[in-house]
Amino acid sequence: MASTIVNAPCTVPSVKGFDTLYYVGLRPTSTLRFNSGRTSISGRSQRLFVVRASERHDGHVKKIEMSIEECEAAVVAGNAPEAPPVPPKPAAPVGTPVIQPFQLSRRPRRNRKSPALRASFQETSISPANFVYPLFIHEGQEDTPIGAMPGCYRLGWRHGLVEEVAKARDVGVNSIVLFPKVPDALKSPTGDEAYNDNGLVPRTIRLLKDKYPDLVIYTDVALDPYSSDGHDGIVREDGVIMNDETVHQLCKQAVSQARAGADVVSPSDMMDGRVGAIRDALDAEGFHHVSIMSYTAKYASSFYGPFREALDSNPRFGDKKTYQMNPANYREALVEAHEDEAEGADILLVKPGLPYLDIIRLLRDESPLPIAAYQVSGEYSMIKAGGVLKMIDEERVMMESLMCLRRAGADIILTYFALQAARCLCGEKR
Ligand code: PBG
Repeated sequence: MASTIVNAPCTVPSVKGFDTLYYVGLRPTSTLRFNSGRTSISGRSQRLFVVRASERHDGHVKKIEMSIEECEAAVVAGNAPEAPPVPPKPAAPVGTPVIQPFQLSRRPRRNRKSPALRASFQETSISPANFVYPLFIHEGQEDTPIGAMPGCYRLGWRHGLVEEVAKARDVGVNSIVLFPKVPDALKSPTGDEAYNDNGLVPRTIRLLKDKYPDLVIYTDVALDPYSSDGHDGIVREDGVIMNDETVHQLCKQAVSQARAGADVVSPSDMMDGRVGAIRDALDAEGFHHVSIMSYTAKYASSFYGPFREALDSNPRFGDKKTYQMNPANYREALVEAHEDEAEGADILLVKPGLPYLDIIRLLRDESPLPIAAYQVSGEYSMIKAGGVLKMIDEERVMMESLMCLRRAGADIILTYFALQAARCLCGEKR
């Protein structure tokens, strides 16, 4: 009897064996395989798992020389059949000191002694479903490599992007976030291109939703790609970033993205009161179903450098310290979290990721909401660079860093490694 589990449309196996250990840098020592084949139904590739409950035994037991009673009697009479001998104690190297074993009531290494035990006690798991893939888009037709982010491209919105999304979905990554590279001529001090319904982002959302209706599209809500000053808000002549006026623009931007079909709008600007204002604006236009992922604790970090190169969005003057948080602050993240929760955020995000694990854990412990971590461009590029220079094992460090973000409490991770990591998790090495 065979039962078949059809796993569609993504092709990530729903059953994982010891192979999962590979995620934390261990190689499988035993192979647990399911009968898996591929079929094509209506042109779509699907993976089948055929789990056989019984291999053609049909309840029929093979007859051998002795009955059960005879076997039992033999053992009772002291004639137990032979089994392999207990293996000899493995030898220690010559020179190993001969000592009395310690009297330890607890030896934690006992629970780590084999791949099977380690798999049993692994506390954290990671899957492609946890990833959100950030993608850079532009008006161009070709895909241009981003110098500071090896392996990342500004993708043509009509072709390159659509292909990249298809590759990601193939390995179970069905969530993306879009970052537009906007022509300079469309930038202005008030960033009005941000809410042009026919701008690059809304146009791209419509195209993607047309091709992949079930794709989860996150958008970035902030003025910096559209600001001639390269700031996330409107800049007054004395350099002050104007809060409430900026929020007014962000509400229009979020509504425009929702109108195009965005599933989750993500304010990354760090203005005060923007979550509540965006919630009201969305609801007023009938977008009650559109979620808000708030960049709750976004720090004024130097780890964003490569991203700003990718979008050519460096602030033209000054820095972002009057709105993004001071990297030295921990308690301040709680002020932001309480505010965002009260204003109706659906997801709280911490950014950057790895250097801010304590903040991820803080929000995880203090809030019942899902927590997102953003492994930012600088984190990505450092791992890539270390790998290229053969100083570290890129793939293992990638998987370990993602696992650590999960262990700290992140439900989802925004990462430029989403596709590469998901391929690893699916056992595809390329
Ligand atoms: C700006 C924005 C930034 C990133 C995401 N949205 C840069 C910034 O705040 O200057 C950085 C992402 C990364 O570095 O990967 N709204």
